[in-house]
Amino acid sequence: MYPLQRNRRLRQNTSIRNLVREFQIHTDDFIVPLFVVEGLQKKEEIPSMPGYYRYSLDFLEKEVEELWQLGLQAVLLFVKVPDAKKDNKGKEALNTEGLMQRAIQTVKKACPEILVMTDVALDPYSSFGHDGIVEQGQIVNDATLEVLTAMALSHAQVGADFVAPSDMMDGRILSIRKGLEAAAFTDVGIMSYSAKYASSFYGPFRDALDSAPGFGDKKTYQMDFANRSEALIESQRDADEGADILMVKPGIAYLDILYELKQKLNTPLAVYQVSGEYAMLKAAAEKGWLDYESVMLEQLVAFKRAGASLIASYHAKEVALLQQF
Ligand code: PBG
Repeated sequence: MYPLQRNRRLRQNTSIRNLVREFQIHTDDFIVPLFVVEGLQKKEEIPSMPGYYRYSLDFLEKEVEELWQLGLQAVLLFVKVPDAKKDNKGKEALNTEGLMQRAIQTVKKACPEILVMTDVALDPYSSFGHDGIVEQGQIVNDATLEVLTAMALSHAQVGADFVAPSDMMDGRILSIRKGLEAAAFTDVGIMSYSAKYASSFYGPFRDALDSAPGFGDKKTYQMDFANRSEALIESQRDADEGADILMVKPGIAYLDILYELKQKLNTPLAVYQVSGEYAMLKAAAEKGWLDYESVMLEQLVAFKRAGASLIASYHAKEVALLQQF
């Protein structure tokens, strides 16, 4: 009771604040999303993600070496597929010489110890821009599982450490886990986008990969942002089906979901701070309306506070460069 207890005693200088601080971010926490394109010597800035790039494989190699030097230890790969290679069934996703397959090998060669995580979903390969196979205007679940499983296997075959299914089809974790086990990839992990919401925050990402849905939206497979219990059901099921890491996506608008999952499940929990979140902060900072670094750090610490132990974020490299959190 005041004045016996004064809350401000523990805030009066930096040293005491540092001493009592509960949550910190560290380079160990981060997963770096990377966009890959065909070609040579390409480092293309994504217009709606200033300061973020698509790399050709030669530049990807350099970027990964730099990330590793900075203490970042995990990357999450996405590829931009030319329109001519897109079809309804994502055939190109299974090409053993495909861009993703070459990207995995490039990263592993440049930096054998860095963890390579790969996006598993049809959208960058789909002529419809959907995460699954389309039949009569519907995204069909079970037929899609076969492609997703084959895709995960083709990533494992060239060295992926973790596959990250982001498609939100039912049963994909079990299907992929069984596929990996049957092919003796017992050590390949699954990071499931288990609570992935149908969000308008993904806009800049779809610009980056030219992967926006050609018709409709993703609401028949991604979750309704008005729901919370569903996130627990989805995530519990994915854990039961064999996911090693669960994920909440997007980030800042979904801290309650992170907190809830952290309280109720013991599987390691990741958050994905998505492209639209990055774009908003960049835009506000460009206008001089927000202090970029401090807002960035505040948001990232909030993820830890809410319960995330892994953070996929476009800010990872900037944070590592700061080295002063
Ligand atoms: C693909 C995928 C998306 C994101 C990650 N994997 C887009 C989508 O589901 O439409 C979004 C990432 C971001 O916005 O940063 N299934």
